[in-house]
Amino acid sequence: MSHRGAVILGVGASLPRRVVTNDDLAARLDTSDAWIRSRTGIGARRWVEPGTTTSDLAVDAGARALRSAGLSAVDAVVVATTTPDRSCPAIAPAVAARLGLVGVAAHDVAAVCTGFLYGLANAVGLLACGAARTVLLIAAESFSTILDPDDRGTAVIFGDGAGAVVLGEGEGAEEGAVGPCVLGSDGGGADLIQVPAGERYFRMSGKEVFRAAVERMTEAGLAALARAGLGPDDVDHLAPHQANQRICDAVARGLGIDGSRVLADLDVVGNTAAASIPVLLADAAAHGRLGAGDRVLAVAFGGGLTWGAVTLVWPDVVADFGVLAGEG
Ligand code: UT7
Repeated sequence: MSHRGAVILGVGASLPRRVVTNDDLAARLDTSDAWIRSRTGIGARRWVEPGTTTSDLAVDAGARALRSAGLSAVDAVVVATTTPDRSCPAIAPAVAARLGLVGVAAHDVAAVCTGFLYGLANAVGLLACGAARTVLLIAAESFSTILDPDDRGTAVIFGDGAGAVVLGEGEGAEEGAVGPCVLGSDGGGADLIQVPAGERYFRMSGKEVFRAAVERMTEAGLAALARAGLGPDDVDHLAPHQANQRICDAVARGLGIDGSRVLADLDVVGNTAAASIPVLLADAAAHGRLGAGDRVLAVAFGGGLTWGAVTLVWPDVVADFGVLAGEG
């Protein structure tokens, strides 16, 4: 498949202020810091205060990405989310308006934890079809709002946050370049990760999801490398969806990428679903673990079931990573 290019021009991320530790959860659930750390790698996560919406996080991350790009306007806004403020309409138009962008193309993408990579493919498509010359892609979640507080299998895993990138037209191996996107799905597993119809809370079959996540992210990562004409030794950093440290380790092994090249932040943010990869990348860039020209392989897996992978050349930008102001 041929592909017309896109480059990343700016990067931002926003986290809620409130830190929820494993001990906080163990105080009201039959779990422990030791269990959560050893089975998942998660030490803490951040949850929004009541009243804070996914849009609030999306607007903050979006504003930060625009600032990082040195732009005040773009032609299109794409928001990837599992937790929109309401089920209809999409939140992207409202997010765009709050960023001062009335009149631009704006829509949501729903692919659960693969949302950022599906959104990236959408954004590249908007550039390729001539609908936009610049796109703001935001992945934002307030997953805590759909967690069953009594379900220790999910309540300990998920966190809230938002990450964003600004994309423009560009080609090939230059800094910021986005490689060919690999995406897939298997609706046969739709019930493994779901909010059942008419219900309020998220449900996950952890064990089955674990196995499928390792297999699909490994396959997708290998396919993205092959399509980009790269091997595992060409990758400076693996950026795996922050599902579970044991999943990330197994995927890295399957791809032949040693642990020193694997980015991680789930110890402090947990699994932020669609926002996971851009939050991870913004965090790593803002804290000096990822630099201009570094080659990144991002892989994701989530509800649907869905999965995806893409290679990136990290851009020469200052990532704007911070905490949402004025909450609560
Ligand atoms: O983002 C989308 C993709 N999501 C994922 O990739 C998540 C994938 N799944 C996982 O990460 C893991 O399956 C979990 C972390 C959700 C669960 O870990 P596990 O090692 O698969 O545990 P398990 O479900 O097999 O449960 C093992 C034991 C069970 O007890 P018994 O039946 O052996 O007595 C569970 O009841 O651990 C128990 N358990 C817990 N114990 C303490 C399950 N959750 C907890 C908990 N604290 N939070």
